[in-house]
Amino acid sequence: MSSIAPLFKSFRLHNLTLPNRVVMSPMTRSHSPGGVPGANVAAYYRRRAEGGVGLIVTEGVAINHPAAVSDDKIPQMFGDAALAGWKRVASEVHAVGGHIFPQLWHVGMMRKPGELPNVDAPAVGPSGLALNGKKISEPLTEKDVEYLIGAYAEAAGNAMKAGFDGIELHGAHGYLIDQFFWGQTNTRTDRFGGDIAARTRFGVEIVQACRRATRPDFPIALRWSQWKSTDYNAKLATTPQELERFLKPLVDAGVDLFHCSQRRFWETEFDSALNIAGWTKKLSGKPVVTVGSVGLDGDLIGSLSGKPSHHVGIDKVVAMVERGEVDLVAVGRALLADAAWPVKIREGRAQDLTPLTQESFVNLI
Ligand SMILES: Cc1cc2nc3c(=O)[nH]c(=O)nc-3n(C[C@H](O)[C@H](O)[C@H](O)COP(=O)(O)O)c2cc1C
Repeated sequence: MSSIAPLFKSFRLHNLTLPNRVVMSPMTRSHSPGGVPGANVAAYYRRRAEGGVGLIVTEGVAINHPAAVSDDKIPQMFGDAALAGWKRVASEVHAVGGHIFPQLWHVGMMRKPGELPNVDAPAVGPSGLALNGKKISEPLTEKDVEYLIGAYAEAAGNAMKAGFDGIELHGAHGYLIDQFFWGQTNTRTDRFGGDIAARTRFGVEIVQACRRATRPDFPIALRWSQWKSTDYNAKLATTPQELERFLKPLVDAGVDLFHCSQRRFWETEFDSALNIAGWTKKLSGKPVVTVGSVGLDGDLIGSLSGKPSHHVGIDKVVAMVERGEVDLVAVGRALLADAAWPVKIREGRAQDLTPLTQESFVNLI
């Protein structure tokens, strides 16, 4: 067995057998005018499937709510034209042996006034509070919250009908679902607020509604993070006990896979040798995806500020898979640089990888 072999062992999630452990991390592209993914989107994902990615998680995709996203080129999971576009994406990915989940997204209070696609739609959130705690708008009513839960479920049902293999709910980085998880943005006193377990209620009801809108064996993944895009040092769970209380209701609701978002996968949690994905697996008993600078020597924030990152070896993350601490490994920027990253790694051709440059973020091909 070569040292990278554990990354190329198959993995089973319900009826879905993934050929290897490499996941394409969700990355917003904004290349879908009017919310409709066209031929270029299908080609972009098909290239990653051809390059050997076991499971693609798409860029964030808007659910059907006027304030879901902040750009009119972000794709949506509703409406005939968009769903026809997604059908083509899923079928092109399947044609070359790939598997694909859409990432269902609502930005909540991260939306700024006047942003597209619906300039008049105000930001919505559990308590009308921005991530810094500033009051921006009125809290969502219970009826509004129930509407949003229905919109996630509608998107999940649409995704299944379009041919996707499962869904990922974006519950990370300070967006809407995470705003419910986070005590500083969720001060509600109804069933959607309270302690860390009670604050999962919105996520829990979304998972249950998505399950009802799909099938019992349709994989539902939840992406979550300790950090927010506005505060990299934030900690949703400060102890393993809190993390367990956070995870349990979500597991009971039917989450099949936790995608634990970190900027650097090797950073450990709670003074232990495990990272947050390792802890999530240990406490939930569910499969997990780890992510964060896999195969690169610099993190996402460095890239966003123009700092170069270079391809590096992946022994450390492969060892985590081999030890069974994590099941799947998501790769983001390295796959923007080179769609054939998995094949080149598997064949020991790392020297042939196309470097990550600032252009990789502009062209997004
Ligand atoms: C251009 C770009 C867009 C991103 N968009 C999303 C997104 O829509 N949803 C999400 O959960 N994460 C998003 N991320 C974060 C990535 O999924 C990933 O977690 C992060 O880039 C770390 O992985 P990496 O170091 O392998 O790039 C984005 C990252 C990049 C570089």
